[in-house]
Amino acid sequence: MANEHQSPSANENDGGAAAAHAQTAPKSQKKKLIVGVIVVVIVVLAVAFWKWHEQPTFCNSVCHTPMDSYVESYYQNNVASLASVHGKAGVTCLTCHPAKIDEQINEVTKWISGHYAYDKETGKLLSHSAKYATPETCLRSGCHNMTLADLEKKTKNMPWNPHAFSQHGVTNCGDCHKAHEQSVMICSECHRPAAEHVPEGWAALPYRPDHEATIPFHAKG
Ligand code: HEC
Ligand code: HEC
Ligand code: HEC
Repeated sequence: MANEHQSPSANENDGGAAAAHAQTAPKSQKKKLIVGVIVVVIVVLAVAFWKWHEQPTFCNSVCHTPMDSYVESYYQNNVASLASVHGKAGVTCLTCHPAKIDEQINEVTKWISGHYAYDKETGKLLSHSAKYATPETCLRSGCHNMTLADLEKKTKNMPWNPHAFSQHGVTNCGDCHKAHEQSVMICSECHRPAAEHVPEGWAALPYRPDHEATIPFHAKG
C-alpha cells in the first residue's frame, strides 16, 4: 500500500520535476523579459534625468534656498550680468559650471546636511568665487573662440577699451564681468574716460585722482 502510494507520488514527483523542467524555459524567458524591461526603464529614466539635469530650472527645483537667486539672474533681463546675457544665447548653467561628480556629491551632501552659508538678503552663497570667469574658461572653442589679442582688437573702437590687456597685463574676466550680479568697470578708478563711458547697467569703481599715477595689476616691465 505504502509502496503503491509512494510510487505514484514518486511518479508525481518525477512528473512534477518534469513539469518544472518544462516550465523553466518560459519562466527564465519571463525573467529575462522582466529584467530587460527594468533595464530599459532605468535607461529611459537616467536619460530623462540627465536631460532634466541639463535644464537651468533643475538647479532650483529641489535646492530652492541656495539656488533661486542664481536661476533668477539667469532668466532676468539684465545686460550687465553674464548669466542673463548667456541665458538669452541658450548657454546653460552646465556650460559654465561643468558637472563634476565629486563636486556634485559634495553639493548634495552640503545641501542635505544644511552645511552651506548664504546671505539671507540676497540669497547668494557665501562661498563665492570668481574662479569660473577666467580667460581660460571664457576664451575657448565652443565659447569665445579667440585669443586675448583678438578680444583686445574686437573692442578697440569702444569709447574706452576695457580689454586693453597689452597695457597692464590681464585681469580676470570676472573682475569686471559678474555672472549673477551687476558687472563692474574697474579701470574707472584711474582713467577718467573709463569713468565717463560706463556701459548701460554696469556699476563702476569711483574715479580716484590720488590713485591715477599708480600702475595697477602686473607692473609693466
Ligand atoms: C556665463 C557663464 C555662467 C552661466 C550661464 C551660469 N553661471 Fe553661475 N557662475 C558663473 C561665474 C563666473 C560664477 C562666479 C561668481 C561670479 O562671477 O559672479 C558663478 C557662480 C555661481 C554660483 C556660486 C558658487 C560660486 O562658486 O561662486 C552658483 C550657485 C551658480 N553660479 C549657479 C548657477 C546656475 C544655477 C546657473 C543656471 C541657472 C548658472 N550659475 C549659470 C558663471 C555662469
Ligand atoms: C575692465 C573690465 C573688463 C574686463 C577685465 C573684461 N571685460 Fe569684457 N567687457 C567689458 C565691458 C565694459 C564690455 C562692454 C559691455 C557692454 O557694452 O555692455 C565688455 C564686453 C565684452 C564682450 C562683448 C564684446 C562685443 O563685441 O560686444 C566680450 C565677448 C567680453 N567682454 C569678453 C571678455 C573676456 C573673455 C574677458 C577676460 C579675458 C573680459 N571680457 C574681461 C569689461 C571687461
Ligand atoms: C591703479 C590705477 C590704474 C588702473 C586701475 C588702470 N590703469 Fe591704465 N594706466 C594707469 C597709469 C598710471 C597709466 C600710465 C602709465 C602706463 O603706461 O602704464 C595707464 C595707462 C593706460 C593706457 C595707455 C593709454 C592711456 O590712456 O594712458 C591704457 C590703454 C590703459 N591704461 C588701460 C587700462 C585698462 C583697460 C584698465 C582696466 C582694465 C586700466 N588701464 C586700469 C593706471 C591705471
